Amino acid sequence: MSLRKVKIAGTGSYIPQRVLTNADLERMVATSDEWISSRTGIKERRIADENEAASDLAYHAARRALKNAQVKPEDLDMIIVATITPDMIFPATACILQEKLGARKVAAFDLEAACSGFLYGLTVGSQFIATGMYDTILVVASETLSKIVDWQDRNTCVIFADGAGAAVIGPSSDSGRIISSYLGADGGGADLVKVPAGGSRLPASFQTVQNRQHYMKMKGNELFKTAVRAMIHAIHASLEEGNLKSSDVDYFIPHQANMRIIDAVVKKVGLSQDKVHINLEQCGNMSAASVAVGLDEAVRGKKIKKGDKVLLTCFGGGVTWASIVIEW
Ligand code: UT7
Repeated sequence: MSLRKVKIAGTGSYIPQRVLTNADLERMVATSDEWISSRTGIKERRIADENEAASDLAYHAARRALKNAQVKPEDLDMIIVATITPDMIFPATACILQEKLGARKVAAFDLEAACSGFLYGLTVGSQFIATGMYDTILVVASETLSKIVDWQDRNTCVIFADGAGAAVIGPSSDSGRIISSYLGADGGGADLVKVPAGGSRLPASFQTVQNRQHYMKMKGNELFKTAVRAMIHAIHASLEEGNLKSSDVDYFIPHQANMRIIDAVVKKVGLSQDKVHINLEQCGNMSAASVAVGLDEAVRGKKIKKGDKVLLTCFGGGVTWASIVIEW
């Protein structure tokens, strides 16, 4: 069977209105703008309202992506939502989004690969397009990390933020295509970042809430080293699969966990700093949404032009990693 080429037909993103600055955080936990800026590169982040859930952010991002792709919700064949902060444990946020969008009763499901979720989603969705099973798929990464961070824990609350990014994918009739995808995971690192309670291992109870176990716990330093190694490995693997060298990359959109992680990866892979997309200064770490929002920003800001080779690389909880090369 010959496989069809898959392209991104349109992107969209949405970040909540409310800005939380480092100065605001100084009033909440024992931290400083100097520490946050120098250790992470983050200056401010966006935080969802009390009544704003993942599907609400996803809806705005999806509407924009559909408009840019000139696709009507009723033309969608499948909806994939990548999130670690679903509206509820179930039903899937993708089903809630399907109803909000007024899409047909099509396949809809959530995918959980933490910060790597958007690239996992693009790769999974691409297989349906490539085989000809479906023609139009919406992939959304939507996160409301502010709802699961412990606002008393300076190790996490200064880093994570909220936002959503979306892409519509379909068959390509020109040179634009996803050239290669590389996905990886290592459950040996499952303890490095997690929300211990609220699942079947430790169901939510008065005790778990009192112990603050329904909030995210992170071993930041260990994750840092693992992230650098995994991202470098994923980049090399995706470039190799596409028969490309790092000098072929025209634009790089990395996961936005920490400026020092990005700098280390860029240096080691030998990419040029001026080709790297950064949004963590204003947006913080939006988990799966970071690269999705970055891609839409790059498209809107005309950082990417037809024919460019665009590299997207992620690392996240699980631990998971992923890298995709696109010819735009
Ligand atoms: O999105 C994917 C998953 N997440 C990641 O990839 C995150 C990767 N990790 C990181 O980005 C970094 O490890 C952090 C930004 C989380 C932490 O930076 P670090 O340089 O690794 O700091 P550290 O955890 O080694 O802590 C150094 C010190 C500690 O104090 P002592 O023990 O040396 O006295 C911490 O208690 O910094 C302290 N610290 C803070 N101080 C002020 C930790 N957080 C803060 C804070 N403000 N917010």
